[in-house]
Amino acid sequence: MALKITVIGTGYLGATHAAAMAELGFEVLGLDIVPEKIEMLSAGRVPMYEPGLEELLKAHVAGIEGSTGRLRFTTSYAEAGAFGDVHFICVNTPQKHGEYACDMSYVDAAVESLAPCLERAALVVGKSTVPVGSADRLAQRLAELAPAGDEVELAWNPEFLREGFAVQDTLHPDRIVVGVRSEHAEKVLREVYATPMAEGSPLVVTDFPTSELVKTAANSFLATKISFINAMAEVCEAAGGDVAKLAEAIGHDDRIGAKFLRAGIGFGGGCLPKDIRAFMARAGELGADQALTFLREVDSINMRRRGHMVELARDAVGGAFLGKRVAVLGATFKPDSDDVRDSPALNVAGQIHLQGGQVTVYDPKGMDNARRVFPTLGYADSAVEAARGADVVLHLTEWREFRELDPAALAEVVSRRLILDGRNALDATTWRSAGWTYRAMGRPRA
Ligand code: UDX
Repeated sequence: MALKITVIGTGYLGATHAAAMAELGFEVLGLDIVPEKIEMLSAGRVPMYEPGLEELLKAHVAGIEGSTGRLRFTTSYAEAGAFGDVHFICVNTPQKHGEYACDMSYVDAAVESLAPCLERAALVVGKSTVPVGSADRLAQRLAELAPAGDEVELAWNPEFLREGFAVQDTLHPDRIVVGVRSEHAEKVLREVYATPMAEGSPLVVTDFPTSELVKTAANSFLATKISFINAMAEVCEAAGGDVAKLAEAIGHDDRIGAKFLRAGIGFGGGCLPKDIRAFMARAGELGADQALTFLREVDSINMRRRGHMVELARDAVGGAFLGKRVAVLGATFKPDSDDVRDSPALNVAGQIHLQGGQVTVYDPKGMDNARRVFPTLGYADSAVEAARGADVVLHLTEWREFRELDPAALAEVVSRRLILDGRNALDATTWRSAGWTYRAMGRPRA
């Protein structure tokens, strides 16, 4: 009999995982405690923008014409407990208010609600990003609460999906990491991931703490890489060098690699910033804080970038924002997402607004979320409208749409042809030859 799978929590991670599991051929039941989310998903609609996800969902959600019918949703833990052989926990673990540590309340609540409903053999698999030591603690809670006792087991299986590539990363993961305590748990997970493994995704089998650490270590490494190149951008600016060339040159070294070396206004989003902070907080609790003090520097280099962009813009408009119009292209923390959580772009826009600038923002997908976070900013329906009458244009999220803008057409509507590229992603030559002053972070002024 094929395994039956439940997915607890249907945000970015859970909705994608549920649809992907159905795509792999399993019967899937997705659970969320927010009824509106369940209603939307049951109708085959996704509460966020993620390329390919809605199509995948529609292909499998029961009741949709032409679907396989393998995917259903519920708000009932009793139903999930009775249905599943494998329960994936995919709820979010945000940063706690006012401190660095990770807020485990959603994961804890999921386990506390699910466990009493487990009256038959099941494997509970944590996918959420958690502080190391959580799996051990949650395994104990399961043992205390599950009526099926020993027949219920825990495993940890961190998720590495990137927003914007969530579907692809879930169906074709570059690695599958499982933290297990028994051969049985490993066997079940090998069955779940048989298809991607047959396609060549490597499987790393390890213990609980290592599997939890893999995720935070990976995100810390990525954050460090970005802050490294941003630190180089600061030095390049001081020395008259070009950080884009520098990145290209060091990227040819296989040991360094060219990816994640784009200097600019830095990283944001729901993962990297909070993960490195939660990692520092957890290391502190474990008495290993010294090992991670460098992450404080990584965080601080990153946050400096936003302030630096604001300063560049202020200098560019003559030293003060008062009475100046600033066009902001991009609000999401990265392209191909509608996510504005801890978005450097929106943070820069907000700071300029607070300093008296008249800011108009345009983003291809993030407008609704941006408006919710920063209702006092101006918003326009297109890049051209945002740029109308602008004293300076800021390119802050590298959407393809912005790379394809026609500098000559934009020149017609602005007050001054001045563009600051906060992502080092526009073609300087094209903009300059259309009469623009183009400036980027960590690169010489022409
Ligand atoms: C990240 C990890 O990549 C993923 O493996 C993990 O599961 C979740 O966290 P995501 O949050 O989707 O994924 O974003 P990512 O693609 O890593 O980008 C993070 C931020 O870094 C973005 O704001 C992006 O603009 C910025 N970035 C990325 C740079 O500033 N420069 C770069 O060279 C690359």
